[in-house]
Amino acid sequence: MKRGGSEEAKRRAGERAAAAVEDGMVVGLGTGSTAAHAVRALGREVDAGLDIEGIPTSFQSRELAREEGIPLTTLDEATPDLAIDGADQVAGGDLIKGGGAAHTREKIVDSAADRLLVVADPTKEAEVLDAPVPLEVVPDARQTVSGAVREHGGEATLRAAECKDGPVVTDNGNLVLDCEFGTIDSPDERAATLSAIPGVVEHGLFVGIADEIYVGTDEGVRVREL
Ligand code: 5RP
Repeated sequence: MKRGGSEEAKRRAGERAAAAVEDGMVVGLGTGSTAAHAVRALGREVDAGLDIEGIPTSFQSRELAREEGIPLTTLDEATPDLAIDGADQVAGGDLIKGGGAAHTREKIVDSAADRLLVVADPTKEAEVLDAPVPLEVVPDARQTVSGAVREHGGEATLRAAECKDGPVVTDNGNLVLDCEFGTIDSPDERAATLSAIPGVVEHGLFVGIADEIYVGTDEGVRVREL
């Protein structure tokens, strides 16, 4: 899915973050159009002799990595030295992810990595997180989770597929509820509340996981270390 700012800004962010990857590293490969630029850049480096292994965060990033000839491994075999991933919203160092419905595997891989480099464009930056928070939910729990979200002051909407009748089904066979809470003043408290709802597999709040933010613009890249 194509979201956010200009392709040029995304490309700059992705390629700059890919330049942080060194020989011998295991790299978490993020999902989405911005992270895809990093994966393509790594593919070119692998062609030129860079020796790395990738751990994909989704079906999409696995397919792209295979097309690009990046050798793959799994979390059973290796721990990522670094992960490069996109975001739907960035405020300070906290993120909302899951626009591609991949946030469960993204969070597993990104959290396992020694360093998470987030790649974004200026349309993703905010003072305070206020975008809808995606929840991956077990299909049977759709109504009960929606009710719990309502009790916590939110409004849950089942994510509809674009090229299929019915809902989006994640790589793990679950559904996605996009939950509108308005301004999220305490992301860690909101994250704890969402994690505690039975049937929620994972939520899209990434609190305290990112280490560096790369924001591509049409002129260059702003790098922020956290
Ligand atoms: C997928 C994600 C993506 O990283 C996020 O949606 C950003 O995507 P893009 O770079 O295409 O805007 O969280 O679940």
